[in-house]
Formats: sequence, C-alpha cells, structure tokens
Amino acid sequence: MKNFRSFGMTVAVALVAGLSLQACADDDDWGRGWWKRADFAPLNDPQYVAECGDCHMPYQPGMLPAASWRRIMNGLDDHFGDNAELDEPVRQHILSLLESNAADRVDTGRSPGVARSLAGQAPLRFTETRYFRRKHYEIPERLVKNNPDVGSFSRCDACHLKADQGNYDEHQVRIPGVGRWDD
Ligand code: HEC
Ligand code: HEC
Repeated sequence: MKNFRSFGMTVAVALVAGLSLQACADDDDWGRGWWKRADFAPLNDPQYVAECGDCHMPYQPGMLPAASWRRIMNGLDDHFGDNAELDEPVRQHILSLLESNAADRVDTGRSPGVARSLAGQAPLRFTETRYFRRKHYEIPERLVKNNPDVGSFSRCDACHLKADQGNYDEHQVRIPGVGRWDD
C-alpha cells in the first residue's frame, strides 16, 4: 500500500513537471532564456551604450569582425554622413571592447558563422553583408525604406522586438504596419 502511494506520487510529480515543461516550451521568452544563447551577445558597457546607442541601437560587436570595427572607429568624423567623433580615451576604450567581442573573436551565437561568411572582408555595415541579405531578401523595400516606422535595415530594433538583448529569433519579429511575420 505504501509503495502504491509513492508510485502515485511519482506519477503526479511527473505529470506536473511535464505540464510545466510544456508551458515553458510554448513561451518563446522562456524558451530562449536559459538554454539558448543570444544570436549576438550584447555589449553592456555604459560608455558604449551612451556613445554608440544614441542615434541607433548599440549594435552587438559580434555582427562584424575586428577589422570592420577598426575601420568604423577610425572614421567617426564621417560616420555614414554624421559626425560621431569621441575623445581619444573613450574611443580607445570602446574600440578595444568592440575588437575583443568581434565576430572573429568570439565563439557564441551567430558570430562565427558571420565571420566565416565574410572570409576576411571588413565591411562597414552588417546590413550589406551576404549573411544579412540572405536573411532579409524576402522583405520588400516598401516595408523598409518607404515605411516611416522603419526607414532602413540598420534599425534592427524597429522589427526585432528583442534586438537589445541580441535576440533575432524569427518568432520575435514584427514589421511595423505589418504585424507578425509569417513566411
Ligand atoms: C550622430 C549619430 C550617430 C552616432 C553617435 C553613432 N552612429 Fe553609427 N550610424 C549613424 C547613422 C546615421 C548610420 C547609418 C544608418 C542608416 O543607414 O540607416 C549609422 C550606422 C552604423 C553602423 C552600420 C549599421 C548597419 O549594419 O547598417 C554601425 C556598425 C555603426 N553605426 C556603429 C556605430 C558605433 C560603434 C558608434 C559609436 C562609436 C556609432 N555608430 C555612433 C549615426 C550615428
Ligand atoms: C524591416 C524589418 C527588419 C529589420 C529592420 C531587420 N530585420 Fe532581421 N529579420 C526581419 C524578418 C521579417 C526576419 C525573418 C525573415 C524570414 O524568416 O523570412 C528577420 C530575420 C533575421 C535573422 C535570422 C533570424 C532567424 O531566426 O533565422 C537575423 C539574425 C536578423 N534578422 C538580424 C537582424 C539585424 C542584426 C538587423 C539590424 C542590423 C535586422 N535584422 C534588421 C526583419 C527585419
């Protein structure tokens, strides 16, 4: 009898555990939380976020290789038509963080794949890489350039709800004016 009771207990516990696992699996948030790492690891350095997250989101360094970051940080006086110059110590601080977390220096998320696909090239934009284009070619211009709530592919966070966490999962995308993206 005692054995039977504890067997019943085991079944009950297993059921509850199973149900809650199921509930977790249904929730994307939770699903990515602890067993899947970010697509690109965020750089939470306060100076980086303040200086490079003012005009656009602070891009995750793992989107571009170290050589790209050096080019970008050496040309801040003409940064895509803007002046984004920094005091030298701040520039050095940010550059060294970008370099050590660059696509060709880390082994997390999509970074190694991005570095491999660039094969030594050092573009100024992630949005102009083949890697990026392959993921976005289905999205028509009118939903980006001609969309007042987006304007440019460089605005990852206009469509990717968790871009700030480096999460670019295709289930966490809403193109403004379009709603949930289902292809
Ligand atoms: C004064 C505003 C401004 C500041 C400050 C700024 N940027 Fe930019 N950045 C821009 C503009 C404008 C673009 C082009 C955006 C577009 O095409 O829609 C851009 C684009 C970029 C891109 C290319 C994104 C892509 O893949 O298309 C990178 C990388 C970038 N910035 C990095 C940085 C870094 C690193 C810093 C800090 C040192 C920084 N930015 C600070 C204005 C700024
Ligand atoms: C106009 C909206 C929009 C913007 C802006 C945008 N994306 Fe996307 N992105 C999408 C959509 C929609 C998909 C899903 C495409 C598909 O599966 O057909 C996607 C897919 C991706 C994927 C692949 C996700 C997966 O699960 O396979 C990555 C990585 C990604 N985007 C990164 C970025 C980054 C980084 C930026 C900014 C530099 C960016 N995206 C800007 C809409 C956008």
